[in-house]
Amino acid sequence: MNLPPPPPPIRNPEIKYTQIFINNEWVNSESGKTFPTINPTNGKKICDVQEGDKADIDKAVAAAKKAFEFGSEWRSMDASQRAVLLNKLADLIERDRIYISSLETLDNGKPYNDAYYRDLTICMKVLRYFAGWTDKIQGKTIPVDGASFCYTRHEPVGVCGQIIPWNYPAMMMVWKIGPALACGNTVVVKPAEQTPLTALHVASLVKEAGFPPGVVNVVPGYGPTAGGALSSHYDVNKIAFTGSTEVGKLIMEAAAKTNLKRVTLELGGKSPLVIFKDANLDEVVEVAHRALFFNMGQVCTAASRTYIHEDIYDEFVKRSVERAKSKLIGDPYDLKSEYGPQVSKEQFDRVLELIESGKSEGANLECGGNRHGTEGYFIQPTVFTNVTENMRIGKEEIFGPVQQLIKFKTMDEVVERANNTSYGLAAGCFTKDLDTALEFSSRVQAGSVWMNGYGLATTQAPFGGFKMSGIGREAGEYGLQAYYEVKTVVIKTNKKL
Ligand code: NAI
Ligand code: MG
Repeated sequence: MNLPPPPPPIRNPEIKYTQIFINNEWVNSESGKTFPTINPTNGKKICDVQEGDKADIDKAVAAAKKAFEFGSEWRSMDASQRAVLLNKLADLIERDRIYISSLETLDNGKPYNDAYYRDLTICMKVLRYFAGWTDKIQGKTIPVDGASFCYTRHEPVGVCGQIIPWNYPAMMMVWKIGPALACGNTVVVKPAEQTPLTALHVASLVKEAGFPPGVVNVVPGYGPTAGGALSSHYDVNKIAFTGSTEVGKLIMEAAAKTNLKRVTLELGGKSPLVIFKDANLDEVVEVAHRALFFNMGQVCTAASRTYIHEDIYDEFVKRSVERAKSKLIGDPYDLKSEYGPQVSKEQFDRVLELIESGKSEGANLECGGNRHGTEGYFIQPTVFTNVTENMRIGKEEIFGPVQQLIKFKTMDEVVERANNTSYGLAAGCFTKDLDTALEFSSRVQAGSVWMNGYGLATTQAPFGGFKMSGIGREAGEYGLQAYYEVKTVVIKTNKKL
């Protein structure tokens, strides 16, 4: 897709909101504590943000619970009016698109071009899509035995805790609040500590759009404290989380130990992309490159195991290495930059450590492997060959710019190797042969399978993982199911109707 350049970014976006958002008001943390948020392009502090923990989560949950009470403004609102508010929020995000994209680039380091075109486009589409659902979330009438009239209602679950990762800060927040609000729930959002700023701006737009107080609350803070308090809160009826598998397990455990709150988890991946021998190399080298290096590899569906048929392997490797070396790295505000820093020092160290493990475990480093430049958290685009699934780089989610190129011979072999992982988020394959494509797509264990393309996720279709990549689905009609309870109502009648 050749898009025109976006409008120029705001290079020093004003920081307007750094407090906790509860009941449509800005407040300081109960403890008086703050935490710094860092610009990963230069490692310098942007500003301090109020640090929420248990006391602030308690206040936010109480506000959300009150806003959800029977007879409240939100509960009494026509479903169609919820659509008006969601559409209004989308319009306000569109109005502030340049500012929000610029703020995302500052806090996260992603190229402004990508923030503007990908993240912000999805924010608006998700809200408008779910706005369309508000007055279509409906039950059934069921012809039950006996003299009774039976119908079901799809009722909101209640207070939803939503824990957001740092790789798509604004987009993941909107992706979670969209279906929750469409169904009539109230929410407490905990943004990632690395990237709280755009979530706070979106909170201000929630108020401007006219949502009643307490419907959306945003509490920035750390995972074990603020996130832990939310996932173990007795008055939270549902928790949605995107992040690491390790923390996903803690969230489930917290839910089990308190009130069996409903849990949806969107976790990591080690997604295979399989290039069969009839694939067009001019096209697939670029797709495989982007499938891994997009967002500096910080994507849950990153194709971090690329399997290439032996007949085309050598040429594929040569071209992939050339492509990685040609990557335009630099100031993420520069419209020509394809690539920025990793989000944090912690992620930078984690990725470099995994690169070292690849070298010491016997993979071939074809290019990259080091820090790029001297400032910020940039890592050179890195390509490894001679990788096996028992190496750490063949097994663990790297979440960084490290591509693994692996040779295969047969369908049986590649299916077995593709499935030889605890994850199952996404998979892809390239072939013009329909039988090959369909066989691969049915045998691979993954929540999404993309054929002759990669990363083809859309707002309208469900997204989620098999195995340890998660529980439940987000987006599309299936994504609503996590946000309503089905109530069966039976009325005894005098006659069989
Ligand atoms: P993480 O899973 O610790 O953080 C994600 C979110 O969970 C953040 O908002 C964090 O504050 C919160 N959190 C952390 N501990 C928590 C707890 N005990 N209870 C409740 N919430 C908690 O991820 P982290 O440490 O930033 O990154 C580690 C790895 O996780 C990455 O290298 C990557 O492999 C994976 N990851 C996957 C993402 C995805 O899109 N699936 C997004 C972010 C990270
Ligand atoms: Mg963590």
